[in-house]
Amino acid sequence: MAIKRPARRQKVVDTKSKNNDTEVFEQTLRPKSIKEYIGQSKIKEHMLVYMQAAKQRKEPLGHTILHGPPGLGKTTLAHIVASEMNSQIRLTTGPAIEKPGDLASILTNLQSGDVLFIDEIHRLRPAIEEVLYSAMEDFVLDIMIGKGPSARSMRIDVKPFTLVGATTKVGSVSAPLRDRFVHNFKLSFYNHIEMTSIVNRSANILNLSIEESAAHMIGCSSRSTPRIANRILRSVRDFAQMNKEENICESRARDTLKSLDIDGKGLDATDREILSTIIEKFAGGPVGLSTLAAATAEEEQTLEDVYEPYLLQLGFLKRTTQGREVTPLAYAHMGLEVPGGVVQEAML
Ligand code: ADE
Repeated sequence: MAIKRPARRQKVVDTKSKNNDTEVFEQTLRPKSIKEYIGQSKIKEHMLVYMQAAKQRKEPLGHTILHGPPGLGKTTLAHIVASEMNSQIRLTTGPAIEKPGDLASILTNLQSGDVLFIDEIHRLRPAIEEVLYSAMEDFVLDIMIGKGPSARSMRIDVKPFTLVGATTKVGSVSAPLRDRFVHNFKLSFYNHIEMTSIVNRSANILNLSIEESAAHMIGCSSRSTPRIANRILRSVRDFAQMNKEENICESRARDTLKSLDIDGKGLDATDREILSTIIEKFAGGPVGLSTLAAATAEEEQTLEDVYEPYLLQLGFLKRTTQGREVTPLAYAHMGLEVPGGVVQEAML
């Protein structure tokens, strides 16, 4: 499993380490077409128009940047673009492209209409970005051969392709690169109805019988993130199987969530530790990111990219110019008295 398990506690949220088993599992559940893809309706609607129009013109889809928190389906959408455009996909990541020559080799091996997917595109080195610009604009590569006075520039044609870039930090993508994307889509968190449908769809693919209330419970406890819902479903399946249950019922879902330390809002032990650290050690904030990272023993980037988006979405956390602050809703969720105030029940 890709679940990172530091000795001190178990985590369900993890985006970095993936073993083969997890990749196969995710691939099995990945929707293969726009029709199968649940949620993100505005993005799907626009993508369909742009893809159909490009197909009619016999051109590749314009370069597309997908951004949003991890696990919402950026890679899945890139695969769908390739499949809907009847083309191949080539996958890489920003940090994996170390030298301009690496990018040149990838680009010159593309076939006409291929999709080049670069995950974590905000981590591309500036020297690589430079090479990418002319490839994106004119489908040519300008590369320097040799060094010093004998260096010369060479121009190589590349076949027309679609670059699909994905990032959790669109603000860190340089402006010249961002401006070269034709389409820009921001993926948002899924609502409870969509999450429940995703759990039901995954259960169906895995041949699992699941009660509607169990699917709903898993869907609502998955940080509005399909990847997490699928991981939790996998754990629930294993617990049900070991208890010789043929049907996944609500109480099995509840017990599994409890043993994974996931609460009713989908927060795990780390989310709650972030909130309680701000409350207990920093009087509710504001606290700077680096101080919070040190106090919680998490990396700044993990806090920013993985944990904060959902806490912000729930309205439990605020980012201010002075730092991170918890809200009265967070106090209430943690069962703590709100300093100097009451949270209306309707807000919870
Ligand atoms: N599995 C993961 N993401 C999904 C989505 N958006 N729709 C359907 N199944 C999914």
